[in-house]
Amino acid sequence: MAGIISVVGARPNFMKVAPLYEEIKSRGGEQILVHTGQHYDENMSKVFFDDLSMPTPDIYFGIGSGSHASQTARVMLEFEKTVQEYEPELVIVVGDVNSTVACALVCAKMNVPVAHVEAGLRSFDRTMPEEINRIVTDSVSDFLLTPSIEANENLLREGTDPGKIHFVGNIMIDSLHRSVKSSTKSTALEDYCVEPSEYGIMTLHRPANVDDSESLFYLVESACMASQDTPIIFPIHPRTKKMFGKEKFETLIQSSNLRICDPLGYLDFIRLLSNSKFVLTDSGGIQEESTALGIPCLTLRENTERPITVSMGTNTIVGKNRELMISLVSEILKTGGKKGKIPDLWDGNTASRISDVIQFAIS
Ligand code: UD1
Repeated sequence: MAGIISVVGARPNFMKVAPLYEEIKSRGGEQILVHTGQHYDENMSKVFFDDLSMPTPDIYFGIGSGSHASQTARVMLEFEKTVQEYEPELVIVVGDVNSTVACALVCAKMNVPVAHVEAGLRSFDRTMPEEINRIVTDSVSDFLLTPSIEANENLLREGTDPGKIHFVGNIMIDSLHRSVKSSTKSTALEDYCVEPSEYGIMTLHRPANVDDSESLFYLVESACMASQDTPIIFPIHPRTKKMFGKEKFETLIQSSNLRICDPLGYLDFIRLLSNSKFVLTDSGGIQEESTALGIPCLTLRENTERPITVSMGTNTIVGKNRELMISLVSEILKTGGKKGKIPDLWDGNTASRISDVIQFAIS
């Protein structure tokens, strides 16, 4: 019988599990690390294990890509066998990817307690696959570990038992704090020939932005316009890259100040992010990291499940509004842009607070 099984599957999971795995280990907890293999490319997975000093997963499913149903179902089939074999006291899932919901569902059916790290986030946009994953995962989890008071409120509004909800803070910031220091060894600034505070960064991978070629072209064209006075580094997610084969993208980018590169490892990305002037993104995690670092963030989505980054932090929702994007970038270059504050409990000690909540499974 194993104590705790922690699950990772896709890129945004790794920096959430790393500090918690370390904390549980330091308390002498018995744990097994499962990697579903939802993300499998070296630069979407392995490099994060190296950068975050994570151990090699004990179990690797190799699920790979596929439709939502097939990816989720394949993870469920494999994870059911793992739970049967190891009989964990607790399973920890993080975030909102397909691997998260798949493993939480398996546990719920097998009466194994589940802790969901990053519970309670809601975009109120059910066209986002992640929103469905959040709602389902929260509804079957036993420990709802939230990063903000708004997340508690969302859960309470849905009728969740208050005894299940624990406001523990933002686990990503634990990894961020550690990595900002170690990222000074990254050569990313030199590699991309940029000086601190003299460039922006862009990331795009949401299906609503990138799966339609016209929508992606419009956003990239807007970023090219915004990059007139300052370079923008654009590491391309594999989902986005698939759409980039077309000639019109090449022509557009060649005549702009947008610098395209492959997806970056964690330390290289944090090195570039922490020294950047601004960020354009549709990622959830980067909205939080930029708030924690005090870097202005323009979110290229119509909504966010992380509203605290707007109300307290440096985030502004821009959607596909080209004029707004260009005027905000120009304002940031002139004045430095939106100044924010750090939300409560985004202090680098969330892994410790989570471990206190789940101590029964550690000792
Ligand atoms: C997934 C998550 C999303 C998260 C994102 C971070 C879900 C529903 N979505 O989206 O919440 O923000 O990860 O990256 O779980 N691919 C590769 N190499 C890889 C992984 C994927 O080439 O290592 C390609 C495949 O062609 C695949 C496509 O990217 O079809 C999309 O991958 P998938 O795991 O389906 O979703 P993401 O868009 O990465």
